[in-house]
Amino acid sequence: MWYLIIFAIVKECYAVIAQLNDPPNDLIAVIKEYSEYTEKHYNHSYIERGVCIATKCKKYINNTNSNILNLNANLEACLNQTIWNNYGLQAKLTHVYYCNKQDEEVKYDWSDWLFGGILLLLVSINIIGSFYDLMLEKYYQDKKSDKYNNKNPYLLCFSIPRNWESLTSIKLEDRRVERLKGLHGIRVLTSFLIPLAHVMWLIGTGFTDNPQDIEKASESTHYQLIFNGLMIVQIFFVMSGFLMVYNLEILSEIVPIKWSLLPNIFLNRLWRLTPANSLIILFTATWLRYLGSGPLWKLYVTSVVSGCRQYWWAHIFYINNYFPEDKACAVHTWHLAADMQLFFLGSIVYIATKTKGRSTVIALLLLFSVAAPALHVWFQDLDALVIFKPEFYRSFSNDTYWYLHILGHNNLSCFIIGMVTGYFAYYCQKNRVEVFKHKIWQYLAWCVIPGIAGLILTGSIFYTETRLSLVIRMAYAAIHRPILGVIIAFIILGLVLRIENVQLRLLEWDGWVVPSKLSYCAYLLHLNIVHILLGARTQLGHVSFFYVVINHLGIVFLSYLAAIPLSLMVEVPFNRLKTLFQDTSMMKKKKL
Ligand SMILES: *[C@@H]1O[C@H](CO)[C@@H](O)[C@H](O)[C@H]1NC(C)=O
Ligand SMILES: *[C@@H]1O[C@H](CO)[C@@H](O)[C@H](O)[C@H]1NC(C)=O
Ligand SMILES: *[C@@H]1O[C@H](CO)[C@@H](O)[C@H](O)[C@H]1NC(C)=O
Repeated sequence: MWYLIIFAIVKECYAVIAQLNDPPNDLIAVIKEYSEYTEKHYNHSYIERGVCIATKCKKYINNTNSNILNLNANLEACLNQTIWNNYGLQAKLTHVYYCNKQDEEVKYDWSDWLFGGILLLLVSINIIGSFYDLMLEKYYQDKKSDKYNNKNPYLLCFSIPRNWESLTSIKLEDRRVERLKGLHGIRVLTSFLIPLAHVMWLIGTGFTDNPQDIEKASESTHYQLIFNGLMIVQIFFVMSGFLMVYNLEILSEIVPIKWSLLPNIFLNRLWRLTPANSLIILFTATWLRYLGSGPLWKLYVTSVVSGCRQYWWAHIFYINNYFPEDKACAVHTWHLAADMQLFFLGSIVYIATKTKGRSTVIALLLLFSVAAPALHVWFQDLDALVIFKPEFYRSFSNDTYWYLHILGHNNLSCFIIGMVTGYFAYYCQKNRVEVFKHKIWQYLAWCVIPGIAGLILTGSIFYTETRLSLVIRMAYAAIHRPILGVIIAFIILGLVLRIENVQLRLLEWDGWVVPSKLSYCAYLLHLNIVHILLGARTQLGHVSFFYVVINHLGIVFLSYLAAIPLSLMVEVPFNRLKTLFQDTSMMKKKKL
């Protein structure tokens, strides 16, 4: 075999990029031609290497501190020699990413202190709150008494025992909210599957001893399920649209829905998601870089950190998905941003069409949401869906991902379908309409999972040498989301309107509730674990599906574990503060 092995060696090293640079010959021609097939193959005409100067290039370099120009020339000679000896090819050094010197000093700056300060503050307020709660509990034997609860409600929000109770309780207040219990199951299963695509980075970035297995991966069904499985994130959009409308409809029974409600709705959502999100962004921009080291650390972790230093504001304001140049910082939160944008749009539409014009507006939006991805494909010459080309993992450039997949308006269709589902479910429940009585719906409910898997597998038609025609790509880009959206809407209706019992009981299992509450924090955290694993590597990885599964399970487990303190000390307390403020403002209004 003639493919080139890419490797990395520990410490004191250079990650370099070298271009194969020969007068035309057969081998080079083969490499060039092979690399042209970008859907399946890496670009083998450049290689990235971590070189340990001290052991591999000793001969060429007298003094590692010698000036950089000289260093590059020597490095090139050294690399050229190795590659020449092994493959009979010449290599030209085109770019040195960075050099790690011995005894590099760690430089802390004010942002590190800021994160440290915030962390200290959060931990201490939680400790104080917990002690306060415990003391009160001793003092007032009766937990229910007013005196007990009115002491200092703000401080009590930060009581870890109380928050633990609310995190682990599976009680649901309302009969109609109880109908939504199955959503916990869906949320947990989806959150469990989503990191799979990110775990693929561990073996996809090219620092592996059998890169040709990644090149063959798209031919196998299980990898195809992962690659095109990217679309299951749409489940969240459908759920989000559904919950928005369903909850607002329930709210409208007690409060008149007016424009004045809008700021409240927005604030509510921002307040729910922002504390944990901004804390993790701040962590990623600061302390993450000290959590490890290795030849690849700067490539995979420091780049993420500097990305977050530059674009943290885009993440705080939930607009990061519209900044394609923000390629490194917390890429997975594009979904959070898109969801927030859709939620804003959706709630405006909800209020604007409360009295009239609802079906027209919804129909127009649906039309737009189907047309938008197709137009992107047309004008920007994109693929129908994100194709996991091997180079995507390596260079992280993929126009379809950056200009189609993650943009809010391209994900509108599922959100709108979710909204319609919300209206419909509420209507059916309120008026006791039995739509799904016929036996056929029960059979259909069993087709849902195979249906989704089948839809995901249809994406494999795009892994071909010659790109499919524009019309097919546009059509697929336009309709695959709505089709998935309709299937998911059917699942949700199945839960709320009780269509099929076995699956219902499976999804309404009590065990889903707690992980579901943790899933937001776990989602925020999991990618940092992937980055750390990527950056801390000192050996070549190995491409195998088993390795992917083990890593996936490990990463999911670790992120749920880390999510417990994050949720207990940040998410739950801030949510309780929010409820407290709302209650007090409600009381004030009532008194007035
Ligand atoms: C492969 O990489 C080289 C060097 O970066 C570049 O010149 C070439 O165009 C790439 N080939 C393909 C098919 O992208
Ligand atoms: C290393 O130093 C020796 C003399 O100290 C010199 O002759 C030689 O050219 C140097 N080699 C390189 C690669 O700079
Ligand atoms: C690479 O090494 C070979 C063999 O030593 C030599 O003939 C060739 O000139 C070198 N090429 C470069 C670009 O240094």
